[in-house]
Amino acid sequence: MTAIRTGLGWDNHRIAEGRPLILGGIHVPCEFGLDGHSDADILLHALTDALLGALALGDIGMHFPDTDPQWKGASSDRFLAHAAALARERGWTISNVDTTVILQRPKLKEFREPIRANVARLLEMELDQVSVKFKTAEKVGPVGEGKSAEAQAIATLIR
Ligand code: C5P
Ligand code: MG
Repeated sequence: MTAIRTGLGWDNHRIAEGRPLILGGIHVPCEFGLDGHSDADILLHALTDALLGALALGDIGMHFPDTDPQWKGASSDRFLAHAAALARERGWTISNVDTTVILQRPKLKEFREPIRANVARLLEMELDQVSVKFKTAEKVGPVGEGKSAEAQAIATLIR
């Protein structure tokens, strides 16, 4: 019998002038980026938490404490790879992932395919198993006012 697990992830970072904007491991040219201890890649952080959630193995901060200097400026690839390895070790295959980035601007549409391709590469999945969506916040609330950005992710594992 096939076992199925799902996990949910969410992340939120402040917008900061002069910081890089990195989403799904892809650098988006912009005059602002996201503040954070690591590279502040909200999409990969949400996705990492979705995988850890499906495995019931806590959250990203438990595996990579932001008080630990070894993770300062760390590429979030490593967080995601760690969560994917934990899934593999336990015999799980990632069936699909779906993500949403909520950012008022810039427009991200043209980065959808590079981000999908990079996430698929990092998770060793096919392109049609990786969904990336974008939303504004309709200029309302901290995201809408350009103070922060959010990402949501869901992952389904099968065994
Ligand atoms: O938030 P809203 O529904 O107005 O977004 C409309 C479309 O604009 C989205 O479906 C998405 O394709 C695109 N979008 C984008 N970059 C953003 C926000 C939204 O490309 N930062
Ligand atoms: Mg984060």
